[in-house]
Amino acid sequence: MATLLRIDSSASGDNSKSRQLADAFVAQWVAKNPEGKVVTRDVNANPLPHFTSETLGALFTQEEDRTAEQQAIVAIGDELIEELEAADVVAISAPIYNFSIPSTLKSYFDYVARAGRTFKYTETGPVGLVNKDAYVFSASGSFLENTPYDHQLPYVKTFLNFIGLTVKDSFVAGGQAMGPDGEKAFTDAKEKIAAAV
Ligand SMILES: Cc1cc2nc3c(=O)[nH]c(=O)nc-3n(C[C@H](O)[C@H](O)[C@H](O)COP(=O)(O)O)c2cc1C
Repeated sequence: MATLLRIDSSASGDNSKSRQLADAFVAQWVAKNPEGKVVTRDVNANPLPHFTSETLGALFTQEEDRTAEQQAIVAIGDELIEELEAADVVAISAPIYNFSIPSTLKSYFDYVARAGRTFKYTETGPVGLVNKDAYVFSASGSFLENTPYDHQLPYVKTFLNFIGLTVKDSFVAGGQAMGPDGEKAFTDAKEKIAAAV
């Protein structure tokens, strides 16, 4: 049974355009995989703590020496990594906030990037260990894609690739604060999803 892990991060709930794009993708994936399972990780509804010195300290303490608090910290990342490893395909929806991803999604990335588990360093450089496909759904107020101001999609692709995921496709609704041009961008992105899945 195939499993799709869906990760949402917009703070705008049902009004979120990036979530609506992911909705369209998931609906089509379910139609093609009627036996499939969809797991949703909403980092806005259930935000993760920031990665702090406590987090780093817990990870660098030997398992048998960890306090109960440190065990709880490490368990957060363990659960996220196990969930990610168990998926066959990953769909990430993200708005552009201040030229990049929401900090809630950044926290998620901070927890799932774990040396020796999701990536490793080799003599020829880092190698990702989570081998699966990913799709990214993005929305922004202005049109930033392929401009020097887009630090979201290139960053998300770089990060996912670093831990071994292959971004098969991305769907971008720019211009959401720009009236009809934004509406067209959203419609175009939905049509691209229909054609891609
Ligand atoms: C906190 C915040 C920061 C934002 N920063 C940007 C930005 O840097 N560039 C931009 O084009 N739009 C920006 N926007 C607009 C959002 O990207 C836009 O509303 C988009 O539709 C949000 O995605 P969503 O509909 O999935 O929530 C920002 C919105 C918020 C709430």
